[in-house]
Amino acid sequence: MNLDVIVSLCKRRGFIFQSSEIYGGIASCWDYGPLGVELKNNVKRVWWRDNVYLRPDMVGLDAAILMHPRVWKASGHLDHFTDPMVDCKACRRRFRADQLDATPWIHYCPATKGNKFEIPGGEPCKHCGARRTLCPACGKGELTPPRQFNLMFKTFMGPVEEDAAVTYLRPETAQGIFVNFDNVLQATRLKLPFGVAQIGKSFRNEITPGNFIFRTHEFEQMEIEYFVNPSDVIDGRPADEVWHERWIKERLAWYERYGIRREHLRLREHEKDELAHYAKRTADIEYEFPMGWSELEGIANRTDFDLKQHSKASGKSLTYFDEERKTHVVPYVIEPSAGADRSVLAFLVDAYREEEVRGEKRVLLRLHADLAPVKIAVLPLLKKRDAIVATAREIQRRLARRWVSAYDDTAAIGRLYRRQDEVGTPYCVTVDVQTVGDTERGEAGDGKVTIRERDSMEQIRVPITELETVFRELLTDGVAWSAVRARYPVVTG
Ligand code: GAP
Repeated sequence: MNLDVIVSLCKRRGFIFQSSEIYGGIASCWDYGPLGVELKNNVKRVWWRDNVYLRPDMVGLDAAILMHPRVWKASGHLDHFTDPMVDCKACRRRFRADQLDATPWIHYCPATKGNKFEIPGGEPCKHCGARRTLCPACGKGELTPPRQFNLMFKTFMGPVEEDAAVTYLRPETAQGIFVNFDNVLQATRLKLPFGVAQIGKSFRNEITPGNFIFRTHEFEQMEIEYFVNPSDVIDGRPADEVWHERWIKERLAWYERYGIRREHLRLREHEKDELAHYAKRTADIEYEFPMGWSELEGIANRTDFDLKQHSKASGKSLTYFDEERKTHVVPYVIEPSAGADRSVLAFLVDAYREEEVRGEKRVLLRLHADLAPVKIAVLPLLKKRDAIVATAREIQRRLARRWVSAYDDTAAIGRLYRRQDEVGTPYCVTVDVQTVGDTERGEAGDGKVTIRERDSMEQIRVPITELETVFRELLTDGVAWSAVRARYPVVTG
């Protein structure tokens, strides 16, 4: 599938817009629209529920984005959070030195009287056999030798722009957890192993952002720092290594639980020369995005690197008292670090389907009900019948107290269903003449409505008085559609 299909759906249906679009847009910055904000909030909500509320060994935190500048010296980000970069001396464009070989390049070929060609990355010119040496974008400028470029956004705190006022927008949420390790420990009296979870914005001055919300300058992370006693042994193996594997399994299962197909997920171990400066081992969960296999989440064993660094730099002890061994230890840390935006992209891509139904194309987002931006759409079959509209509006108002629900009467029913399918709404409720009856003919309504399920398109007839019970079963208690369907008459047609 082409990423443009998703980008276009997101814009058209109000999931994601280019930031500052009326000014021509700002590169690699995106705004979440009415449906997008619901989807992203749902991703964050289920992550928080599963990792904080449902685990006795986890608590949450929400640290400030701006931190003391010494944090970034101690963490190693000032010295090591860099990419090698080269500049074109003619057009001034900037490139990552380590990605130049994979970049398509412009070539003015001497063998064809200087004709201009765009040549795929890493390949020589078919006509003259030359390989790229100049700027890949303009094809003319020489490139500077590689220089290290720090990816942190620098800013100034206070009214004076001087060196003493320099601080940084955090490039990862993790450091907020490390510097609060002792606060959390003292406040909660948790025993190792335990974890702290945090969701928040991070910022990186990426040299090669792109692929929609995959790599941006401003993004949200969902990070866990799971502290383990390095002296502990589980089944004859160091506890940190065992917990690392448990978290890898748990995080893979999490993506599957919310609908990502297993064949679109894989694990990739970091090579030794690729490991971050703090990591003993890192495994990435990769997803098969439209542009190829890429990182969705990194799960690193950060050892005691961060706590030791901050302890050394701040002079404060960041240890845990091991009652059993009567000694202070610096815990090891396992870090499952996911991107909220990247997860949104993966869930969208994996949910997208095109089907043919009665000779017509049906576009569908098979989003897990917990992630779907709207859970229930209430639709009147005829908008000219006041009783139908009033009943539909009243049902929607009642359902909206518990579930995000929508009312729509702006098209014929077939079109309304297709619109809801395209944004992943799992259930539609339709109010028709039978529901309200016909007073002119003296016919009483049956007080029942039709519920249509998105994936199967099956429909059942349910009394209005039972709607909330049915949706509690389907949307809150996780009862399968087939089990609910079995209790009610099926509607055909
Ligand atoms: N604390 C560890 C850490 O930050 P990372 O692999 O650099 O590790 C973790 O980032 C996750 O954050 C990535 O797997 C990705 O989902 C997300 N992420 C990182 N950089 C991003 C960017 N520029 N745009 C969007 N998401 C990003």
